[in-house]
Amino acid sequence: MLKNFWYAVEFADRVTNKPARVTVLGQHLAIYRTPSGKVVALSDLCVHRGAALSGGWLKDDCVVCPYHGWQYQPDGQCVKIPAQPDRPVPRKARVDSYPAQERYGFVWVYLGDLPEEERPPIPVWPEFDDLVENGGRFRAVTGEFLWNANYERILENGCDIAHAPFVHAGAFGNPEKPEVPEYELEQPDEWSAFATVDLYPPAPRGIWGRFARMRGQDLNNRPPVTTSAGWMLPNMIKLHVRLPLGDLIIYDTNIPIDETHTLVKWVALRTFFTGKWADKNAIQRTLKIFYEDAEVVDKVRPELLPFDLGAELHIRSDLIAVQYRRRRQELAEKGWLLSDDDKITGDVPRRTATVIPSPARRENPELARAWVHKARGEHPTVAAAELMGPSDEEIK
Ligand code: FES
Ligand SMILES: [Fe+2]
Repeated sequence: MLKNFWYAVEFADRVTNKPARVTVLGQHLAIYRTPSGKVVALSDLCVHRGAALSGGWLKDDCVVCPYHGWQYQPDGQCVKIPAQPDRPVPRKARVDSYPAQERYGFVWVYLGDLPEEERPPIPVWPEFDDLVENGGRFRAVTGEFLWNANYERILENGCDIAHAPFVHAGAFGNPEKPEVPEYELEQPDEWSAFATVDLYPPAPRGIWGRFARMRGQDLNNRPPVTTSAGWMLPNMIKLHVRLPLGDLIIYDTNIPIDETHTLVKWVALRTFFTGKWADKNAIQRTLKIFYEDAEVVDKVRPELLPFDLGAELHIRSDLIAVQYRRRRQELAEKGWLLSDDDKITGDVPRRTATVIPSPARRENPELARAWVHKARGEHPTVAAAELMGPSDEEIK
């Protein structure tokens, strides 16, 4: 799993002034919206006794821990300890706070510690400037789907053109036409890659088919459907199908809950049947595809994508997946893979949790030693910790 990227973690309209938990990259986050509407993402782990801040509530801009009422402001600093109101709040009393913003109907959280100018950008989803409700062309529906699979297996599935005739034979895959035309990789930037091919899906069914017949289309003699599929780092898929009816574009953001569970939150945009009446059908069609994929992908072994490119056999149509694996390798070499350094103390069994260092740790070097939840590598050994223990004076 890759840190140092922006992750779309939740639909924006679900983030309210009631703190809620989301889990991304094995880390729990408490997310909420301040009274002025700003979104906040904190490590969901109170440094006092480890309670979940997502079970708390708001006091002005601060979240109140449900256990002993400590109050943390949006930058993660604790500003009030009700049990000792007359003593200063220790500097160590803070949690990681992650940059958060809203875009395309999602809340995006930056899970890493890089300064702003070094962060990869949030990908551009241009169709969101062209929505029907703003007088544009695209009608959007959204949904989610939980997989028992690693997000990279799902990512590769999403841009895998050769699987459609087999996994989606009843939908858009055509078992009579399993050939994948040769394609060139399109790489508009260093964070994404796309493949575009002409496909011959079977005749449309349901309202799509009825409409096509009404328009007098000859369903037995149809033109090819130009289809683009690709990945956008760290975890997204974009599918663009140019149907005779109009354009269908799906963005999947494959949220890694942990290494083997993935929550996909998706948006499907269409330029045809743009009335609300067709939304339910659009959602059902998308979900059907996920069910078909999950039947296969949830059972793929090994669960995690191999690092060794020679561990699985690649053919020409796998070019886009191979490019993903190469790109991931480059990022691994830069140290962007999540590691044990992003987990906190493991000095007794079942005492680990993931807390990815946030930018404030770099911005305040003088605080580097103040953090209670240090990365594992920075922790003293058990023996040293026993010896060191806090002195009575140190207990604030
Ligand atoms: S555990 Fe949060 S205030 Fe005590
Ligand atoms: Fe699929």
